[in-house]
Amino acid sequence: MLSWDDFDKNEEIKKEEPVQNKVIEKSVIEKTESLNEEVEPVLSSEQNSSNREEKALHGLENLDTEAGLADLEGASGRVDVSEKMMINCRADVNQLVPFKYDWAWQKYLDGSANHWMPQEINMTADVALWKSNDGLTEDERRIVMRNLGFFSTADSLVANNIVLSVYKQITNPECRQYLLRQALEEAIHTHAYQYVIESLGMDEGEIFNMYKEVPSVARKAAWALPFTNSMADENFKTGTLEDDKTLLRNLIAFYCVLEGIFFYCGFTQILSMGNRNKMTGTAEQFQYILRDESMHVNFGIDMINQIKLENPQLWDEAMQEEAAEMILQGTALEIEYAKDTMPTGILGMNSDMMAEYLRFIANRRLTQIGLTEEFPNATNPFPWMSEIMDLRKEKNFFETRVIEYQTGGALSWD
Ligand SMILES: [Fe+2]
Ligand SMILES: [Fe+2]
Repeated sequence: MLSWDDFDKNEEIKKEEPVQNKVIEKSVIEKTESLNEEVEPVLSSEQNSSNREEKALHGLENLDTEAGLADLEGASGRVDVSEKMMINCRADVNQLVPFKYDWAWQKYLDGSANHWMPQEINMTADVALWKSNDGLTEDERRIVMRNLGFFSTADSLVANNIVLSVYKQITNPECRQYLLRQALEEAIHTHAYQYVIESLGMDEGEIFNMYKEVPSVARKAAWALPFTNSMADENFKTGTLEDDKTLLRNLIAFYCVLEGIFFYCGFTQILSMGNRNKMTGTAEQFQYILRDESMHVNFGIDMINQIKLENPQLWDEAMQEEAAEMILQGTALEIEYAKDTMPTGILGMNSDMMAEYLRFIANRRLTQIGLTEEFPNATNPFPWMSEIMDLRKEKNFFETRVIEYQTGGALSWD
């Protein structure tokens, strides 16, 4: 421990050091001087600086306002609504208005009005339940882990598909505006899973690698990947019948199957857990995600139908057959996933009920894009799921959040 005596001694030592200090000061001054010599020519001078400015301004002299716009018809003029098209449009994509597709702009506004962030949701009860030894059964733990494993990767696949494959091919600015909003929402969803995984102290490596290591998760990701890879080549461009069909296939795969079917077993399981007052924070995160996702699916379906309307040659018998097969394959994979995640009955549901629900959803996806139902007698065993998806129509999101903070609990959904 230091005493005042030590302090005095230190002071004395300092007083005895002037000669050494002088040496240091001198060497520092010498070094600084030599540095100044080295940098002098660079910093010099006004002359250099004025040359640089002159050069920069010279570069502006021949700025061509038409360059880069040459391949856009009408780019020099104002865009007329009649020129706007979903794909292969040559009108200026930088002119948002006048709107042609009001549904796209409205969804952008609705999505923005529903903005939320994962940290706003209280995870305290989940952490206590997850860490307690008898709070959850092994089957319930498996459901939480598998779903975080699937979703943490799936939302990232969706975001990558938008940014790297779809955005460039959709030649309409109001749809692009929504795609940008959707890409942000997918980032927020990935953030939400990461936030849950971190809050619960899970093995992050195990969760984020499930899409490669757990077969029922891996098969869903493996099914979707070729649809994005086929467009990821930087030279891919719509404009031929085959390439336009490749884009349409991608949209059906991602909006109707990945977001429209692959998410539904997991959402139902986690929300059912919340209904039973378990993992309420995680369930609340999933509730907000589901609300975003149902809008993503509706937007995708509007896009698909608009492209079909403007390009009827794409929607031939072969393409219709292919689309129906894709939806049926997605349904089969999701039923496999339901069996893997629910080997026994749990949370008031079992894999047979989930299979029935998925057939009901598949019928909806088929009819939404103009195809006929494949499972005419399928019914919805979980009607409360539709109520959650319609939440935004019934409640003001921000008012609801204030109430949540006051009560410290989850949204009421009964
Ligand atoms: Fe998402
Ligand atoms: Fe989504």
